[in-house]
Amino acid sequence: MAKYLDLRNKSDYQELKEASEVIKNKGLVLFPTETVYGIGANGLDEEACLKIFKAKGRKTDNPLILHVSNMEMVESIAENISELEQKLMETFWPGPFTIILKKKKIVPNVVTGNMDTVAIRMPSHPIANKLIEYANLPIAAPSANISGKPSGTRIEDIFNELNDKVDYIIDDGESTIGVESTVVRVIDGVVHILRPGKITKDDLLKVTDKVEVDSHVLGKLEEGTKVLSPGMKYKHYAPDSKCVLVYSDNHQKLISKMQEIASEYKKPLVLTRTSNMKYFKGDTLDLGESLEDISKNIFKELRQVDKYEPDIVIIEGVSKEGLGLAIMNRLIRACSHNYIEI
Ligand code: TXA
Ligand code: MG
Repeated sequence: MAKYLDLRNKSDYQELKEASEVIKNKGLVLFPTETVYGIGANGLDEEACLKIFKAKGRKTDNPLILHVSNMEMVESIAENISELEQKLMETFWPGPFTIILKKKKIVPNVVTGNMDTVAIRMPSHPIANKLIEYANLPIAAPSANISGKPSGTRIEDIFNELNDKVDYIIDDGESTIGVESTVVRVIDGVVHILRPGKITKDDLLKVTDKVEVDSHVLGKLEEGTKVLSPGMKYKHYAPDSKCVLVYSDNHQKLISKMQEIASEYKKPLVLTRTSNMKYFKGDTLDLGESLEDISKNIFKELRQVDKYEPDIVIIEGVSKEGLGLAIMNRLIRACSHNYIEI
């Protein structure tokens, strides 16, 4: 049983000192960030980080992000930082942005999956920030979920799954962004997006004119392919029920296709935009209307799906522009690449 600290609607963070002691003593703390909740541990301690992999049932070749609260911490764990990398950090931190840098020896191999690079992020959430500051060390934190399940964006969604696996839980209500940070790596002066997020390609293009989206962001990975980001290899975000993702930029075609699929099943469940709910009878879940709404809601809604015991889950897709790319990256995986675009 974890200790539970409710910080919803509070702005005095003195109580976080206790949680920071748990981190220093090699324990696990479930804490809020602006993207999704994280399971935090002392990022410089091998034994503490191994507990994260055990708690999540995560493969040890899938590396962790180190969360920092200032630039001195970055310099203590990374080296050979280029001007462009420096500029990216200055522009997008604190915020939903993770950069892969060359690691220093002090970073345990278990954090980086034995690679010579380390993923680093400076979150903007005040609780995450204070927790790191009080612990005075980089906090390793993957998303708060059992591996393969949708990331946790509300404590009530993940409490049963993680309560007996962590030492401390900090509740700050619902995550505002709802999808995990944008992960980038600079190679030969080109910014590669390894995982899309709230910081979009267009945002990055304001800093540099060379940005590429890694082909695995939307594509399917063949067995044995070498990837820049090991997280791409694994099944992700998937409900137990069979899911299909449908997208068309023609509204009428989109709705007809979703209705057609629904008519072929006995107990379909439809996840759709608020304005499209009226087109479907039976079980329907509301994704919200704007891309920001959908980003905030997708993991929460994916976690409701199995309760309906549907024989098919039909999910409305979005255009892959802007934040839409991050949403589609998660939804395509949730549907195990069962994706129809017409
Ligand atoms: O928003 C977020 O990033 C959340 C919150 C808690 O900060 N964290 C998160 O961590 O999503 P996680 O562990 O679920 O995802 C980390 C991703 C994985 O896809 C992993 O493969 C990639 O980052 N990654 C970590 N270290 C890497 C490295 N050295 N090179 C390439 N990819 C790396
Ligand atoms: Mg994750």
